Amino acid sequence: MSRKTGARQKLVVALDGDSLVRAQEMVELLRGDVVNFEVGIELFTACGPGVIEMIREAECQVFLDLKYHDIPSTVAKAVACATRLGVALLNIHASGGARMMEEARNAVAQAAGTTPPKLIAATVLTSMESLGDIGVQFEVREQVVRLAQLARDMGMDGVNASPLEIQMIRQTCGEHFLIVTPGIRMAGERPDDQRRIGHPRQAIEAGADYLVVGRPITEAPDPRAVVKAILRDIG
Ligand code: C5P
Repeated sequence: MSRKTGARQKLVVALDGDSLVRAQEMVELLRGDVVNFEVGIELFTACGPGVIEMIREAECQVFLDLKYHDIPSTVAKAVACATRLGVALLNIHASGGARMMEEARNAVAQAAGTTPPKLIAATVLTSMESLGDIGVQFEVREQVVRLAQLARDMGMDGVNASPLEIQMIRQTCGEHFLIVTPGIRMAGERPDDQRRIGHPRQAIEAGADYLVVGRPITEAPDPRAVVKAILRDIG
């Protein structure tokens, strides 16, 4: 994915769901305004690589959001397969550790053709408010920055992080580190299961490179109108 360009390039629409037909309808509806679509674990598990082919045939780019988290060799082989599918961006969990990230990075480099995908690491899910129940003693923000630093040190191109941590990551990891931000809601919108949320413009002003927005667009009566409102907000 090319970086820091116009508002259209900064928006990624998350196509959650289990139907290729519905995903295709959404791509057809939005492709005039949207160039990046996210394919997450539900859609990919239900539909397989055909969904990636469909988005690429519509001349749009794919963020494959499968958040791989396993032993290093397994993750490396999976990211090599994902790279060969021609996605523009894919992610693994930073909490899988340094060696997992290093092997994944090497696998992408080996499997890629002329334009390698960006490989980013998920830090702490935007649905989580505290980490005590999983045995992590740090505050969420502290843990996010620790994982972002580790991801940068292991050669990741960037991270997924919530709107609330963008500035800290930007300060710590520098200008060239990609920050891809879900947990985006317009003022007054319901958060669904997201907890660490922010408005589109707030996230862009804080330094996000990409905003990932799903249900506020895909479940709206008029998805194109919501896309246009977001593009106006960040434009
Ligand atoms: O519908 P909503 O806007 O909440 O969708 C956000 C999308 O971003 C979902 O597909 C979700 O899996 C994804 N995502 C996330 N948190 C991350 C990384 C990806 O919510 N850390």
